[in-house]
Amino acid sequence: MCGIVGAVAQRNITPILLQGLKRLEYRGYDSCGVALHVDGKLQRSRSTSRVADLESQVEKASLEGFTGIAHTRWATHGAPASHNAHPHFSRERIALVHNGIIENHDELRAELTAAGYVFESQTDTEVIAHLVDHMYTGDLFETVQQAVRRLQGAYAIAVFSRDEPHRVIGARQGSPLIVGVGKGENFLASDAMALAGTTDQIIYLEEGDVVDLQLQRYWVVDAAGKPVEREVRTVHAHTGAAELGPYRHYMQKEIFEQPRAIGDTLEGVSSIMPELFGDKAYSVFKKIDSVLILACGTSYYAGLTAKYWIESIAHIPVNVEIASEYRYRDSVPNPNALVVTISQSGETADTLAALKHARSKDMVNTLTICNVATSAMVRECMLSYITRAGVEVGVASTKAFTTQLTALFLLTLSLAQVRGHLSEEQEAAHLKAMRHLPVSISAVLALEPQIIAWAEEFARKENALFLGRGLHYPIALEGALKLKEISYIHAEAYPAGELKHGPLALVTKEMPVVTVAPNDTLIEKLKSNMQEVRARGGELYVFADADSRIMPSEGVHVIRMPEHYGALSPILHVVPLQLLAYHTALARGTDVDKPRNLAKSVTVE
Ligand code: M6R
Repeated sequence: MCGIVGAVAQRNITPILLQGLKRLEYRGYDSCGVALHVDGKLQRSRSTSRVADLESQVEKASLEGFTGIAHTRWATHGAPASHNAHPHFSRERIALVHNGIIENHDELRAELTAAGYVFESQTDTEVIAHLVDHMYTGDLFETVQQAVRRLQGAYAIAVFSRDEPHRVIGARQGSPLIVGVGKGENFLASDAMALAGTTDQIIYLEEGDVVDLQLQRYWVVDAAGKPVEREVRTVHAHTGAAELGPYRHYMQKEIFEQPRAIGDTLEGVSSIMPELFGDKAYSVFKKIDSVLILACGTSYYAGLTAKYWIESIAHIPVNVEIASEYRYRDSVPNPNALVVTISQSGETADTLAALKHARSKDMVNTLTICNVATSAMVRECMLSYITRAGVEVGVASTKAFTTQLTALFLLTLSLAQVRGHLSEEQEAAHLKAMRHLPVSISAVLALEPQIIAWAEEFARKENALFLGRGLHYPIALEGALKLKEISYIHAEAYPAGELKHGPLALVTKEMPVVTVAPNDTLIEKLKSNMQEVRARGGELYVFADADSRIMPSEGVHVIRMPEHYGALSPILHVVPLQLLAYHTALARGTDVDKPRNLAKSVTVE
């Protein structure tokens, strides 16, 4: 998953391309590059550092032009080295950038090598550049339409030719690409945010579309080569240019924004009603007999939490599936299920593909919980709830997760209401507790100094275990994911009752065992599991509710949560785990907001 920007204009487009890349770094930041049409030649600059470095290179070289493309990369084929950075050239005539994976690249590479092309990189992208050059007829639009027919896999591409100075061609299949329509200038990008401030007139290209951008006009054809009109929408995209303010990292800022984000997500919710999710929600909720949740990573853990809520409160059976598994699995389709996708970005390739897979099996009752109102996920689902976390910059998801949980709790209550499992008193009590969430989270955030003290010890460890039970098992999973993702400490989570079935063998005094210990119906069982750890010398780090009667003792460190939160407890208990991961990463000196090998939005499978 990479970020693409392209432009054809009558002014110097370098600042537009670089600004766009900065906003697309969430899609990958292994390397970046820009290519421009300059005095009848292709010129480029590439960097294996961040866009800021590319910017100074470009400035030094006074690289300016009216037609060009740019790219920020998340490496799939070939290491994040300069020769693998995009744009790729073919015979100094074709310049091309690509997001996605070409599955038949080996076969094409062999064919093009036999035709005399010399490859400089290990990328699948260079294959497309040479293919376009090889098939070039002098008309790039026509050539790209022919060339993409040879590609198997997923792609969004932007390409221009030395011989057609005022033209950029784009094409998409399985990876997002939008057109930005300007006055006497036109643009391409991976998302609308990349072009904010340049144009808000946006076309979302559809699967198989190829677009021809020129100065005064653009032209779209579909996969069959038929000219098509695509709707131009006015999109007020966020720039994501949030200021850090007093914070050292976006992740820290985003953790501390959670009271505001949850408050905003609940704004306008004065009562529980299915219509919160869309006009057709009532009839859909009435007829479904089960729920299928599809998501990845942190969003998947939000889905796991929702399973506990929906089954116990709305009494509807729930399956939660990792999207990348579900899309390829021979599952038994149930057309009466409500398919719920959960995604911060709304662009995660596996989740989108899982949604399409479900729909292809006649599962048409679709709903998404998503943070980006303009995303493909929202466009493709019948019902939706937009979380209002605001732009999340840190790769590690924090406020997106707690706002997803908030929306999922609303979904639980709405389903329960339609099924007759929510009395007016229960509705009022739940709403009151939800409205109190921002205050409760602020109290949890005040635990930061105690958590910093623990983080200093964690920073010296190489492994950690996280335990939770019931509703809090997904929270333990999320805590472990946060720690491994940004501190690079190996962390695993288990439902505490599973310890004795294997993982207990790992426990020594070197193994910190983080325990999520709300005072719920499983607390006594959890205490027994904690004893099993202590008996093997393991050090326990327990986040206990005020009233769970867990006392600090030798090898048992306790941080007390300010209150007991009932059903909403997961939303509170994840917060100290986010802070623990953040401060541990800080102590280890990692790149907290952009951890190695990752990207914010995973738009390839
Ligand atoms: O945008 P999405 O919510 O669909 O992203 C899913 C995962 O890639 C994401 O939650 C990932 O696991 C986070 N970086 C974890 O912090």
